[in-house]
Amino acid sequence: MEVIITNEESIGQLVADDITNLLRRTPDAVLGLATGSSPLRIYDALAEGVSRGELSLARARGFTLDEYVGLPEGHPCRYRTVIDEDFTSRVDIDPAAIHAPDGNAPDLDAACLRYEEAISAAGGVDLQILGIGTDGHIAFNEPGSSLASRTRVKTLTEQTRRDNARFFDGDLDAVPMHCLTQGLGTIMQARHVVLVATGSGKAEAVHHMVEGAVSALWPATILQHHPHVTVLVDDAAASRLQ
Ligand code: F6R
Repeated sequence: MEVIITNEESIGQLVADDITNLLRRTPDAVLGLATGSSPLRIYDALAEGVSRGELSLARARGFTLDEYVGLPEGHPCRYRTVIDEDFTSRVDIDPAAIHAPDGNAPDLDAACLRYEEAISAAGGVDLQILGIGTDGHIAFNEPGSSLASRTRVKTLTEQTRRDNARFFDGDLDAVPMHCLTQGLGTIMQARHVVLVATGSGKAEAVHHMVEGAVSALWPATILQHHPHVTVLVDDAAASRLQ
């Protein structure tokens, strides 16, 4: 695990540079896309790179990490909507090449299985962008998740629902109780994992992920077993590292 401590502004550009290099080597690379605040500067930098003609995502493909269960199509907090706004609509990627778990499927377990199959059929994820929750979750693999888990339905913890209420106008009751999420075993199959975290609220989770014992209680610790992980943090998120 390589840990880079830098400022928030540089994080987005550094990851965008990695993605640019990947796409030069492999124009149809498969990107793993996170939603939330953490990846926004990466998507900004990619959008700027595309507008300057420095990279093209025209042949790239993408898989999002997770989705709330039961948010109607077009709901502003639905991750499919969020990724379209934050990323897809701002770069030259084909919207049909972006895949997301279907949180409205009549059979959610079957939708999870289909998602796993779609990732495999695409040849797996080349570069997975991750944020981390204050409780150490990655995607929506909350504490206690099986370290070998695959895409499945999960119940969100109270902590994560509180953390995410800010996207729902502060209304905790509006935050769904359930989600579909790639599993830790799914994420571990990505060829390169890039995790970004900023702010003191992430410091404890970053400390456990980098220096703690591998445990389902801090799901991100599984990344210690991945052969190619890059962690980019600002000073505040790195403040509990020894
Ligand atoms: C989002 C996701 C989550 C977030 C995490 C951090 O697709 O999978 O694991 O990365 O909750 O969220 P932010 O970046 O908003 O602090």
